Amino acid sequence: MATPLPPSTPGVRVRAPAKINLALKVGAPRPDGFHPLATIYQAVSLYDEIAAEWAEPDEFTVTVTGEGADLVPLDDSNLALRAARLLSRTHGPHNGLGVALSIHKAIPVAGGLAGGSSNGAAALLACAVLWDLDLTGESLRELAAELGSDVPFALLGGTAVGSGRGEEVVPALTTGSYHWVLAFGRHGLSTPAVYRRFDELSETPPQAPEVPPDLMNALRSGNPAEVGRALSNDLQAAALDLQPQLRRTLQAGLELGALGALVSGSGPTCAFLVASESAAVDLSVALSAEGVCRTVRRTVGPVSGARVVGWTTES
Ligand code: C5P
Repeated sequence: MATPLPPSTPGVRVRAPAKINLALKVGAPRPDGFHPLATIYQAVSLYDEIAAEWAEPDEFTVTVTGEGADLVPLDDSNLALRAARLLSRTHGPHNGLGVALSIHKAIPVAGGLAGGSSNGAAALLACAVLWDLDLTGESLRELAAELGSDVPFALLGGTAVGSGRGEEVVPALTTGSYHWVLAFGRHGLSTPAVYRRFDELSETPPQAPEVPPDLMNALRSGNPAEVGRALSNDLQAAALDLQPQLRRTLQAGLELGALGALVSGSGPTCAFLVASESAAVDLSVALSAEGVCRTVRRTVGPVSGARVVGWTTES
């Protein structure tokens, strides 16, 4: 059984990545309201970091700094807090555990990059390590799936095929490293609202969507130009309908030389694939100059999922 340690005990720091959906095929809503998905996730080098430190039993707190911090809820809907409580309830001792979480964000809120899910995965791992819980990888994945559709992938990282509502993930066979330029939108998009718009716009979505074979082949070949041509997102039309200015962002990136462009997940972040790091620098500068987005970031994928990166007493 884990017992609270003296206050001098260091807390743990964990970071977890953002994701892009290289393909997102969406089916008709299931009886539970979720949509069946066939997706290819890729984790990219844009990370939120969480520090977890001991608190009194049953005391769960969270603070948030960084990108879009004022937009993150601090109540019980916060995914990191929910993760900590869920872990304590299901795997903690009867006399209770507590934690003080501090999140530093780099992933935009409501950006289609799974920032909240990254925080949920990071909090699960951080608390499991902090509380020294005896937990299998499988139990951690089950808790992650309970927290949200994208949380298991944020634990896993890499490039993976997602099915079910997105929570069933299997690593994909891929070669190479991919350079992405991300264009953050001026306003976020609500994921449920984008799915609702998708339902309104789609006449006959398939019951069982499938991942596109051309993208799987392209990822095996490691050729970014082929991957760029095979990117696709069934939610893109809905996201563009809700934020029509994103068309200009996508168009600008393609005209400026991107090998492929798409809205990431439910948007509004636009992701541009380029051939090299220097091409990414060129496209970032050019996109910023066009004024078609709020901020531009360069990232590389695939990268690993949630990982311990240090202790809170370290400078
Ligand atoms: O699973 P998660 O909490 O991240 O999902 C957020 C919302 O996105 C759901 O409440 C639902 O409206 C929508 N969603 C969906 N189908 C999925 C995943 C998410 O309709 N496969």
